[in-house]
Amino acid sequence: MSAGGMLKTIFFGGLTVLFFFVIWIYNPFAPHEEYEIPDEVKTIIGDPKAAVEGRELFKQSCASCHSVRYDGIYLTSVAARPEWANIEKVHGKPIFEEKDGKLQIKGYFVPRDVYEAVAIQDLQGLKASFGKVPPDLSTIYLSRGAGYLYQFILDPQKVLPGTSMPKLFFPEYDKEAPQKVAKIVSYLRSVNDPPPAEKVKRTLMGVVTIGYFVVMGFLLWIYRKKLLAKMGY
Ligand code: HEC
Repeated sequence: MSAGGMLKTIFFGGLTVLFFFVIWIYNPFAPHEEYEIPDEVKTIIGDPKAAVEGRELFKQSCASCHSVRYDGIYLTSVAARPEWANIEKVHGKPIFEEKDGKLQIKGYFVPRDVYEAVAIQDLQGLKASFGKVPPDLSTIYLSRGAGYLYQFILDPQKVLPGTSMPKLFFPEYDKEAPQKVAKIVSYLRSVNDPPPAEKVKRTLMGVVTIGYFVVMGFLLWIYRKKLLAKMGY
């Protein structure tokens, strides 16, 4: 290869690396608001056991205002109605969980239009009290991230001044409050996180795809050399 060719290769190679670095690792155009999570609760957020406890905490403290439709959690006032169990079974899809190696139904995913039609009174009531309908939290982890959620749930006014979401945890009186909030964040995360087997499958797919391109690229490169040799270059 000539010196010019070498320079060109280095230049374009570098540009490609820079491109992927900006897209995947450090994107200066993405919003970068940092919300801190104290070290002592950081491990809770990634812990699947904490997520299970977080689900119960969520039902106790949050489900009076928020649903998590993707995980079969609906407003307490709606879920308590005698006809709801039947609506779930007729219109919903079962959501399974694995318990002691067996698949069990832990709830039903009911389409949004059906749920909102049934819950209209409750949702309007909440809107009248809080100025807006408290959002369904099925995908909130993806849009807000762990740090934001942790800080927001612990102290809504600090993160979103003027919000009508009430403060529900008081570390001044409840020493366990930060842990409880972290468990709820862990739960919200688990709703958006694929199960471990699925994660392994996706990672494998990624590696195989990239491997395919690398091998094909290499073969094409050899083939190109052969063709050029045939053509007398
Ligand atoms: C008494 C009703 C009520 C309860 C209980 C409640 N929330 Fe909320 N929540 C709201 C309202 C109202 C909003 C909309 C606030 C806004 O957009 O200003 C909201 C918004 C949110 C948001 C979205 C914030 C954003 O950035 O858009 C999250 C996350 C949230 N709540 C989590 C929780 C969790 C977790 C719990 C339980 C620990 C909980 N909420 C309990 C009323 C409630």
